[in-house]
Amino acid sequence: MLTDIVILAAGQGTRMHSALPKVLQPLGGKPMLAHVLTTATDLAVRRIHIVVGFGGDAVQAAFPDTQASWWIQAQQLGTGDALKSALPGLTGADRVLVLYGDVPLLTAATLREFLQQTPVTALGLTTASVSEPHGYGRILRDADGQVQGIREHKDCQTDEQAICEINLGMMVLPVQPLAGWLQGLSARNAQGEIYLTDVVAAARADGYVVWPFTLADATEALGVNDPVQLAILERVFQRQQLRALQMQGLRVADPARVDIRGELTCGQDCWVDPNVLFVGKVHLGHRVRVGAGAVLQDAQIGDDVEILPYSLIEGAQIGAGARIGPFARIRPGTEIGEAAHIGNYVEVKAAKIGAGSKANHLSYLGDAEIGTGVNVGAGTITCNYDGVHKHRTIIGNDVFIGSDSQLVAPVNIGDGATIGAGSTITKEVPPGGLTLSRSPQRTIPHWQRPRRDKK
Ligand code: UD1
Ligand code: MG
Repeated sequence: MLTDIVILAAGQGTRMHSALPKVLQPLGGKPMLAHVLTTATDLAVRRIHIVVGFGGDAVQAAFPDTQASWWIQAQQLGTGDALKSALPGLTGADRVLVLYGDVPLLTAATLREFLQQTPVTALGLTTASVSEPHGYGRILRDADGQVQGIREHKDCQTDEQAICEINLGMMVLPVQPLAGWLQGLSARNAQGEIYLTDVVAAARADGYVVWPFTLADATEALGVNDPVQLAILERVFQRQQLRALQMQGLRVADPARVDIRGELTCGQDCWVDPNVLFVGKVHLGHRVRVGAGAVLQDAQIGDDVEILPYSLIEGAQIGAGARIGPFARIRPGTEIGEAAHIGNYVEVKAAKIGAGSKANHLSYLGDAEIGTGVNVGAGTITCNYDGVHKHRTIIGNDVFIGSDSQLVAPVNIGDGATIGAGSTITKEVPPGGLTLSRSPQRTIPHWQRPRRDKK
């Protein structure tokens, strides 16, 4: 039994009111279509086809590495017409599973069951009974309970509108009679569209078995037609993801206030406070604590790290036992050593900070290499940019940088050096000793402040 999958993704999604094609709207940080494609790939079928139309170039460009074949539906004349666009690709397949690019939460497990249960030559439908059927196609059954057809919402008579069994959209169809059925479809309906759902009546008329597969919980088959539905599915998706991590031991203060837009992996006994955002690929080691409002993107966090509230960490590696924040900004290309401390209002960019070093307050450390056991005083700035080029600051081990110092790169500071507070360092600093560039302090005795003239 050779099965192909066709994903319908040509619709504009008018109700999204967006320049971005609907199937590229992100869910959990990935285009909706990426979710559907992952599920389709999991099913390991013969071939996957994607039908695009509105913004088709942008949709294709978003999936440069896919093995799927692309088909163009020139005009969005309806779901039946969309499937027609992919017909040439189905030659050699026995049946086709039709998925929608805007139904992103459907699982491979459900679809596998759907394919297994549908008799080989039958037309399989996915249905559910819901309390609010508005907008969906309704399942029409005869007196014996056999499915006769599907009536689109806009074509329903008043009594049909009361039907609560809806068409979820996913279908499995035998390929051999399909072209004939699709050819026979007309657009004589309320929307003037060629409805794929009309093949059900055609299959019945041809003597094919119509096989409804009913989902007990329709949540995973919910589609996105407008921003409200997209936000609802985003919440469902976030809950599912987080639940899976919770079941592996992750502790969170409030599961409704953690978002993962990418892939999060964690060791044992990690704790996440409210309003934390994980983006891209993030790994937390064992016993990591992430404070409120932190944003972690593409980051590797070592064991026993403490991230204090409102810190941003992007493209960085944080060594075991380090303490970051509150209000720290760690930018790409940074490696923070073991047990190092990066405190409030400290920005670190493309810098390597050695084990046990500390920059606790108000600093900019960019394009720098800082040794172990270094103390960076408050207000220290690496002046890395001359207006054209970026230069590096190299600081040895056990250096003490006094507060409010400017280190004008390129510059080297030797091991064990001490920089006096308020210095502007422009030349190489030898190891050991005290280096300072501060102008000497003087006092003018009996100095009179200017006085305001009395009127
Ligand atoms: C469709 C079903 C309806 C079902 C509902 C479930 C039809 C006629 N109706 O309605 O019975 O209850 O889904 O969510 O099929 N598309 C194209 N080309 C087109 C039109 C649509 O590729 O010309 C794609 C869209 O990108 C989308 C999918 O087909 O991924 C469904 O289209 P949509 O317009 O959302 O159909 P519904 O009105 O929701
Ligand atoms: Mg829809």
